[in-house]
Amino acid sequence: MDAADMGQDLQQVLITEEEINQRLDEMAAQIDADYAGHDLLLVGVLKGAVYVMADLSRRLHRSVPMDWMAVSSYGSGTKSSGVVRILKDLDADITGRHVLVVEDIIDSGLTLSWLLGNLSSRGAASVEIATLLRKPEAAKVDVDVKYVGFDIPTEFVVGYGLDYAEKYRNLPFIGTLRPEVYGG
Ligand code: XMP
Ligand code: MG
Repeated sequence: MDAADMGQDLQQVLITEEEINQRLDEMAAQIDADYAGHDLLLVGVLKGAVYVMADLSRRLHRSVPMDWMAVSSYGSGTKSSGVVRILKDLDADITGRHVLVVEDIIDSGLTLSWLLGNLSSRGAASVEIATLLRKPEAAKVDVDVKYVGFDIPTEFVVGYGLDYAEKYRNLPFIGTLRPEVYGG
């Protein structure tokens, strides 16, 4: 889909498809360099990270295994609470492995902070994070994120895996919605 298919719902294109592609090239080159000589397991967080995972992993110059988790953060509406429930756990045993968590967005950081603790407790050799987007001003906990695509303002965004009520995930860019759409 593209901007025209969003009708009146789109407010602004925040990050274009070209900008995303260019940044993913840079992130992949950095990951290739940092993990040279080490095996790596990519762990995607469903569902939002599907597009980042597909496009980032294809830019790596190595064969890399992928696994997935689905978590749900208890909380109302668009706010996360930090109380997390695992909906789908990893298939793989991560003991002694270098894990790179692939995320779409870090908002308060509460979900990711919980996830990091959870993965570390399973005896991974290392756990790092790659996220396409981060909202620095929304941070409630300090999470050490090794790879960040873009820092963005504290606004609700959709596209490239991110949804509003399951809509707009398949937009190829990151956009903002008109506040009337989500009652903001
Ligand atoms: P926290 O606050 O725990 O939450 O870092 C991260 C998760 O919240 C969702 N999220 C968003 N989803 N547009 C979205 O479509 C946004 O602007 C947004 N901000 C946070 C997302 O699921 C993320 O993994
Ligand atoms: Mg997510």
